[in-house]
Amino acid sequence: MASLPFLLAALVAVAASQSTITVDPSRTYQKMDGFGTSETFQRANQMHALSPELQRYSLDLLFNRTTGAGFTILRNGIGSSPDSSSDHMVSIQPRNPGSPNAAPQYVWDGNDNSQVWLSTEAVKYGVKTFYANAWSAPGYMKTNNNDANGGTLCGVSGASCSSGDWRQAYANYLVQYITYYKEVGVDITHVGFLNEPELTTSYASMRSNGQQAVDFIKVLRPTLDKANYTDVKVACCDAEGWYSQNGMMSQLNSISSQLGLITAHSYTSQPTFAINTPHPVWQTEYADLQGAWTSAWYQWNGAGEGLLWANRIYDAIIQANVTGYLYWIGVQGGATNSKLIRISDDKRTVTPSKRLWAFANWSRFVRPGAVRVGTSGGPSGAKVSAFKNVDGWFSVQVIQGGTGSGTVNVKVNGFTAKSAHAWITDESHDVSEIAVNVGSDGTVSATVPGRSFVTFVLEP
Ligand SMILES: *[C@@H]1O[C@H](CO)[C@@H](O)[C@H](O)[C@H]1NC(C)=O
Ligand SMILES: *[C@@H]1O[C@H](CO)[C@@H](O)[C@H](O)[C@H]1NC(C)=O
Ligand SMILES: *[C@@H]1O[C@H](CO)[C@@H](O)[C@H](O)[C@H]1NC(C)=O
Ligand SMILES: *[C@@H]1O[C@H](CO)[C@@H](O)[C@H](O)[C@H]1NC(C)=O
Repeated sequence: MASLPFLLAALVAVAASQSTITVDPSRTYQKMDGFGTSETFQRANQMHALSPELQRYSLDLLFNRTTGAGFTILRNGIGSSPDSSSDHMVSIQPRNPGSPNAAPQYVWDGNDNSQVWLSTEAVKYGVKTFYANAWSAPGYMKTNNNDANGGTLCGVSGASCSSGDWRQAYANYLVQYITYYKEVGVDITHVGFLNEPELTTSYASMRSNGQQAVDFIKVLRPTLDKANYTDVKVACCDAEGWYSQNGMMSQLNSISSQLGLITAHSYTSQPTFAINTPHPVWQTEYADLQGAWTSAWYQWNGAGEGLLWANRIYDAIIQANVTGYLYWIGVQGGATNSKLIRISDDKRTVTPSKRLWAFANWSRFVRPGAVRVGTSGGPSGAKVSAFKNVDGWFSVQVIQGGTGSGTVNVKVNGFTAKSAHAWITDESHDVSEIAVNVGSDGTVSATVPGRSFVTFVLEP
């Protein structure tokens, strides 16, 4: 017969291993745009050069909703370089037409470093959100006469050039790029004209502060409208980090109605707070750029591990109110974690990392248009979030970063689940689906082990 202290201890242990998450659909937060990546700087050429089987496999890993990440956003690079040497993104107007008001001399190869191929394939998978982003204007439009090494767009404040004011020419140029894509059946939904504008690099780069961005947006927005691209949103400014982007907002907010999207990266500071804007915010670029390739889910919480990326996405959504989250590169060769999926040196294999699956566990169940809703409760040490998707089903994410394991019950106020599913991601499980129990009152239960990411899907 067990002693009383033993029974009490056992009761406490049972109590500790049970928890309930209550989802409150009446508390609503941001509406999601989705998740994605890019294949800029000729990375799409690497995908396109694969065998037809590996091409399809890579496309499926990125965009297929049942076998891959189900990404819904693609960020394309708008070229600014005079040539295609190295990994340059060639400009659609490689040569100076002579002056800002001269007739443009656009050159379109219909390929755009295989980004046209990638985009038209993405459309077939149902991708509807295309973010076209220039790293710089062509060199002849800038103070330093070079698309690389910083410099500033001629005509914005503090940047007067003997060649004149190139703002209108640059706006026309961006509109022309959108038109080339429209002609092949790809509707660009967002356009950006800067990348990391606080940084000078040896590749395409253009400096801008908040006021200089405003000086250009005032020209770009009416130019888009005049070309009937009223639905194409102006995005700004892909700053290197959350603080630097926020530092540009006091100027940008002065022309808020001309903006549609705020974009920032996570390299110099993480998305830990909501940027001061009424517009949707995307985290448009981040990666473990230097770390040696790993496809681990959890080893020591290293910068390339899957569980860490599941957490990063959570933090950006919950703490920084983002509606979109993008990795830097999707598919690429080489030995670092700068991509989600690695092409082997002999180009005969393509390997997804657990970072991809961390994204998949978000992207497949938090679809465009899903609204984040409130939650309370949940297992100790876990991060919990919930979304109501457009067609009425709920998804609930439980990221258990600690080692505790237990049964988690999920209840949505005012909603009775008729059926439910749960998927697990951890070091040893590549098996997605796990057993769930649906109680008579619609409460859904499953086991959430330590160091795992479990998604519950509750259907009406
Ligand atoms: C996604 O993969 C499944 C399974 O291989 C396949 O049946 C489906 O056609 C793919 N979807 C698209 C849009 O290619
Ligand atoms: C924009 O749409 C209007 C009305 O449909 C049309 O008259 C005009 O020609 C269009 N302009 C361009 C640049 O396509
Ligand atoms: C979150 O972003 C949405 C736009 O996506 C905005 O309407 C809302 O005000 C933001 N909330 C906070 C707390 O910043
Ligand atoms: C979640 O990630 C795991 C790998 O860690 C993967 O096996 C699983 O298919 C992913 N689930 C979904 C729904 O993408």
